[in-house]
Amino acid sequence: MNDNANPAGFLNIPVPKDLDLKKAINDLKKEKNAVILAHYYQQGDIQDIADFVGDSLALAQWASKTTADIIVLCGVHFMGETAKILCPDKRVFVPDLNAGCSLADSCKADDFEKFIKEHPGYVVISYVNTTAAVKALTDVVVTSTNARQIVESFPSETPIIFGPDRNLGNYTNSITGRNMLLWDGACHVHEQFSLEKIIELKKEHPDALVLAHPECKSPILKLADHIGSTAALLNFATKSPNKKFIVATESGILHEMQKKNPDKIFIPAPPNDSTCACNECSYMRLNTMEKLYNCLKYEIPEIFVDEEIREKAVKPIQKMLEISEKLGL
Ligand code: 13P
Ligand code: SF4
Repeated sequence: MNDNANPAGFLNIPVPKDLDLKKAINDLKKEKNAVILAHYYQQGDIQDIADFVGDSLALAQWASKTTADIIVLCGVHFMGETAKILCPDKRVFVPDLNAGCSLADSCKADDFEKFIKEHPGYVVISYVNTTAAVKALTDVVVTSTNARQIVESFPSETPIIFGPDRNLGNYTNSITGRNMLLWDGACHVHEQFSLEKIIELKKEHPDALVLAHPECKSPILKLADHIGSTAALLNFATKSPNKKFIVATESGILHEMQKKNPDKIFIPAPPNDSTCACNECSYMRLNTMEKLYNCLKYEIPEIFVDEEIREKAVKPIQKMLEISEKLGL
């Protein structure tokens, strides 16, 4: 959490019980020329009130183009930070600054810098799920939508460090034939999916296709019928003539899948531990409509990025956006 933020991570002011939250949020948005961007892993009511819902790449693309004065990023901290890095003159808020990311946490900038120094001459490719300080050490940022194409934009013999997600890294190595050196990080949600339970579900629903995010472990990716970013999975499910899908990614995506495909059936892949909702990202779910309202009304908690770090971190993000634009992603 940023030092300038409210120590609680959000403003804990009770919202009046009789307040029409949707109307109040929409009124504040107009009054302040604010835009609400939401990731597919947000709870349904937040996705529904957002001006734009998308995956990590699309959120960065939107943030870089918006003319709003205020961006409220309903997602996790690194997404707000990416928006602030791209738009230093805008004010950027995340409704609850405690919305971190286990994957970003698995890669501390000091340790990553040491790793890079141990491997001179390597190009450094980082997943967008990283802190600004890690991005500042990076040559080019990727998301799960463009990782393959960006890796392939380098000649095949280029030595590459890829961090921090080992599952996305392994998967990208397997589809590109590269042998990138991988940072050993992972996401606590995607690592939790149970192969055995997915196999059981497949037996129960032999007509279902398995959709998996590349942050999942390789045995799950091996049995998946389609692998891709949240946007790619949504797109595939929408275009597919198939009617039933088992979805191995954070279950928030089911909201948009169901909305776009009311006649299809989406079954969330179960986690190993059936006593907890491990297919929900505990960080993503910290944002609520009440916190979103308070955030717009009181303009707290705000994202700040140290200018020296921002100037370094913006380059690999812009490089990603340029390559993605050229490739029509
Ligand atoms: P995408 O938005 O690129 O699909 O990534 C999912 C994710 O884990 C975001 O934190
Ligand atoms: Fe991070 Fe995983 Fe949550 Fe995505 S789902 S924000 S990678 S912890």
